Amino acid sequence: MTPSGVQGLPTQEQISAEIAAASGTGPQSPHPARDFAPYRSSALRHPHQPLIRTGADPEAAELHGPVFGRTDVTELDADLTRQHTGEPLGERITVSGRVRDRRGRPVAGQLVEIWQANASGRYAHQRDQHPAPLDPHFTGVGRCLTDGQGGYRFTTVKPGAYPWRNHLNAWRPAHIHFSLFGAAFTQRLITQMYFPGDPLFPYDPILHSVTDPAARDRLVAAYDHGLSTPEWSLGYRWDIVLDGPAATLPEPEEVR
Ligand SMILES: [Fe+2]
Repeated sequence: MTPSGVQGLPTQEQISAEIAAASGTGPQSPHPARDFAPYRSSALRHPHQPLIRTGADPEAAELHGPVFGRTDVTELDADLTRQHTGEPLGERITVSGRVRDRRGRPVAGQLVEIWQANASGRYAHQRDQHPAPLDPHFTGVGRCLTDGQGGYRFTTVKPGAYPWRNHLNAWRPAHIHFSLFGAAFTQRLITQMYFPGDPLFPYDPILHSVTDPAARDRLVAAYDHGLSTPEWSLGYRWDIVLDGPAATLPEPEEVR
C-alpha cells in the first residue's frame, strides 16, 4: 500500500476514540448496531429501504433454495490442510466445539462452513491484493456437519492478521469466518471466531461493534491443551449458541 493510498483515512486514535465513546451505549439487544460509526462501511451493508413483500410462499421458496445433506459433505471437507497436493504453511490447528440452542440442547446435523485467510493473512480471493504471499496449498474454505452431540471439528492453519482500509494502520485480529445454516436458508448465522490474547483486539472496530464485553468474549475461542494433538496441532475450542441470552452474535464481513 502506498502512502497516497491511505491519505484521507481517519487515524487509529480517531477510531479508538469513537470505539470508546460507543462503549456501553449499544442497543439493549446485545446484537451489533447496523450502523456502527467506527466500522465505516457498516452503513453500506444493510438495506435502507423497507423489504418488498412478494407474497411468495416461504415453503415454496425453500424448495428452490440450497439443499445440503450428508451425501454432499465429505470428511475431507473439514480438513483445510489436505485440499491440495502439498501441505499449507503455518501453524496447524484443530478448531472444535459444540453447537447448541438456547436451552443447551445440541444441534445435530447442522451445516457449519468456515473461510479464512492463510497464515500470512492473505485470502485466496481476487479482491485481496495486499502484499502478503498466497499459499498454493491453501484455499481457506471448509465445511462439516455437526454430529449427534452438536460437535464440529476442523483441521486448518492459524490465519494471519491482515490490513484493511477502514482507517490508517487498520489491522484485523486473526479470525475465522463461520456460517451456520440453521434449519432453513433464512436462519443463516454468519459470525467470526477470534484467537485468545490477540494484541489487536482493542483496535478493531468490527469486534467492538459488539458493545457488550461479555458478548465479545463469546467470540473468542479458548486454547484447549486437551484438544491439541502431540506433534501435530494446537487445539482451540469454540462453542456456538444459536439464540437466546448466551447467543453467539453475528458480525458482518468487512469490506476490503
Ligand atoms: Fe476476514
